Amino acid sequence: MYKITVLPGDGTGPEVVAEALKVLGAAAQKVGFKYETTTYDLGGDRYLATGELLPDSVLDELRSHDTILLGAIGHPDVKPGILEKGILLSARFALDQYINLRPVKLYPGVWTPLKDKGPEEIDFVVVRENTEGLYSGAGGVLKKGTEDEVAVQESINTRKGVKRCCRYAFDYTKKRNRERKLTLVGKTNVLTYAFDLWERTFYEVAREYPDITPDYAHVDATCMWMVKNPEWFDVLVTDNMFGDIITDLGAMIQGGMGIAAGGNINPEGVSMFEPIGGSAPKYTGMNIINPLAAIGAAQMMLETLGEQHAADLIDRAIAKVTGEKLKSLAAGKMGYSTSEVGDMVAAFVAEG
Ligand code: IPM
Ligand code: MN
Repeated sequence: MYKITVLPGDGTGPEVVAEALKVLGAAAQKVGFKYETTTYDLGGDRYLATGELLPDSVLDELRSHDTILLGAIGHPDVKPGILEKGILLSARFALDQYINLRPVKLYPGVWTPLKDKGPEEIDFVVVRENTEGLYSGAGGVLKKGTEDEVAVQESINTRKGVKRCCRYAFDYTKKRNRERKLTLVGKTNVLTYAFDLWERTFYEVAREYPDITPDYAHVDATCMWMVKNPEWFDVLVTDNMFGDIITDLGAMIQGGMGIAAGGNINPEGVSMFEPIGGSAPKYTGMNIINPLAAIGAAQMMLETLGEQHAADLIDRAIAKVTGEKLKSLAAGKMGYSTSEVGDMVAAFVAEG
């Protein structure tokens, strides 16, 4: 019996989470696993009403459940940064979700802005470190608001943090068993302290995986190749900030935010899965947003829980819906409503 925390969140979050739960239900019935959900109303509305972001009482509940499915965080009436830092980043840090896993996979029938590239060429996974680097909050400001203002934002990289991230990436590459190639993405030519630590640690861990080819690329060149030769990549591992940036590029080449899913993973603890697209306030309540990213998040959640068969069923169902049904992945242009897309995926899962 899996205990799943559901955080529908803001904007279109609740609509897409409803479809993800529909598909989860279909998968559970087909495969025979059991689960129960507990829903919390974290997000912009609760913050505006009570001032609460991620209360300790809720955090304790999250810790006592197996996994988390998140819709979206972000509210037009709340200043940018408050909800992101107070809920999303707080949960990542408090639950030590040290991996941000972002598959970049072009499903059949999906339009990509890359000319002459298809599902064969666009299929890689980014392993982003998720608790350190520039996201650690280290730094400070002096003489704010004056001409002498000084702002320092430091990238914290610990040997332990880098090592566990590299190890996860090697294990993941091995399990994925595609090209068995892992590319470290860095900037060793300029960030000579941080990425020196990364590079040494990466090649040291690589020695434990003789069947995986370790590879290195600078982050700027990686952006170039993701556009020009995405087929060169199998699995990439990188720090928090670079990972944040290259996965938005990745989301675009896989067809946009309608389909981009991610997992905040603590392999030894409680993980949290989310569509990475945000709360899309202008589409809220219209039943036109694409739920496939949230459904993909549920798929990743099942994979992480060890329900590989159910995850594979969902993956194939998504491929059928993109390949045979949808006109576009964009909100309002799919040819179907949000709930109809959820129905179709659930029906394909039930068919097997
Ligand atoms: C992401 C988002 C977050 C991040 C924001 C909302 C804090 O962009 O999950 O990639 O920067 O990590
Ligand atoms: Mn991002």
